[in-house]
Amino acid sequence: SVRQKREIIDHERVASYAFAFDIDGVIVRGPETIPEARTALRMLNGENKYNIKVPYIFITNGGGRSERARCKDLSKRLGITVTEDQVIQGHTPMKDLVPVYKNVLVVGGVLNSCREVAKGYGFKNVYIPIDIMKWNPSVTPYYELSDEEKEAAVDADFSKINIDAILVFADSRNWAADQQIILELLLSKNGVMGTVSESYEDGPGLYFAHSDFVWATDYGLSRYGMGALQVSIAALYQEHTGKELQVTRFGKPQRGTFRFAEKVLSKWRKNTLETHVEQLGMTIDKQQQAQRLKQQQANDSPFGPDSETDQETDITSTEDDDELDEEDDDDDDEGIVINKTSKIVLDLPPASTVYFVGDTPESDIRFANSHDSSWYSILVKTGVFQEGTTPKYQPKQLCENVLEAVRFAIEREH
Ligand code: G3P
Ligand code: MG
Repeated sequence: SVRQKREIIDHERVASYAFAFDIDGVIVRGPETIPEARTALRMLNGENKYNIKVPYIFITNGGGRSERARCKDLSKRLGITVTEDQVIQGHTPMKDLVPVYKNVLVVGGVLNSCREVAKGYGFKNVYIPIDIMKWNPSVTPYYELSDEEKEAAVDADFSKINIDAILVFADSRNWAADQQIILELLLSKNGVMGTVSESYEDGPGLYFAHSDFVWATDYGLSRYGMGALQVSIAALYQEHTGKELQVTRFGKPQRGTFRFAEKVLSKWRKNTLETHVEQLGMTIDKQQQAQRLKQQQANDSPFGPDSETDQETDITSTEDDDELDEEDDDDDDEGIVINKTSKIVLDLPPASTVYFVGDTPESDIRFANSHDSSWYSILVKTGVFQEGTTPKYQPKQLCENVLEAVRFAIEREH
């Protein structure tokens, strides 16, 4: 039964509960690492009075570099090993758009950084705004490309290319130029530069990796984020066309990202348990284990071009509560048999509680509160949320910092 399995898991010192962390404002602030984060993560790796390992993942709206680069940075800052299987960035779920679009304009990040990420995901023809500015400098009359940008830009004739989708991956470093180009494409005939649609209905789809209006850096006050750019583009679009902008949003607090996160977490918990039982000297039946995993992954991808948002939004919602309830509930008829002589097949019930630690009520707390009651939201004071204000979305617990959050949750569990 699920109960027996949980007992075994707890008994073998891998927790039945889990953690998910926001990054900016919880683990880091710009170049600074929040000092308590190191100890907090070490506690979850087993350095706690219960000697229990607690699985954890990171869910950030940030991006602009590959998941691998992000892990390397986190590992260095925290003095632990963070692997790619533990990290979801704002644009990570956009991987699922690879089969949908051939020519994409990727916006944001430094020089070629986001082009490389998109190519790494498998997108075929990836263009960035500076390619368009190199093709025709008159597109952005008040901005001249630097030598570095000219070097990074590719040569292409945008009068002959249909941009199928605009994917805003990371914060724009050049709002004026990026907005000019995004707007032109949205109003174009089939994503061809220099054309204008009569109906304004032939432009490419617009996707944002997240909608954070502000975010926490090492500056005292929060800074405008990608959500602010979205507001600005929507206002310009409305002014120009009289219509509402259609946007597909990823990141927190979107339901699609939640479903993606649950899959990542369940895979990571399985990894943690597998490593642990192997360390105990037991053998896992890899073949059967792989078959089991395949069965579990046979679920549909949570994302598609019409991915929904549950914010007050201007795009069609495809919200479907049933889909959430169907997730990973096929565990009940399987047991874990742990003995040192036979090969074992592991099967993990869903985490008993997922503690989600975040700093932004509108994205993090809303994310953790909205989708599944087994997620437990903890708001920290080291980022966007400021003491003395009332959070728009109420956390289940308010803590000074990430270490206090981890201590609180572990004590609550034991
Ligand atoms: O651009 C990143 C920022 O908006 C939020 O990152 O880690 O707080 O979700 P995070
Ligand atoms: Mg944050």
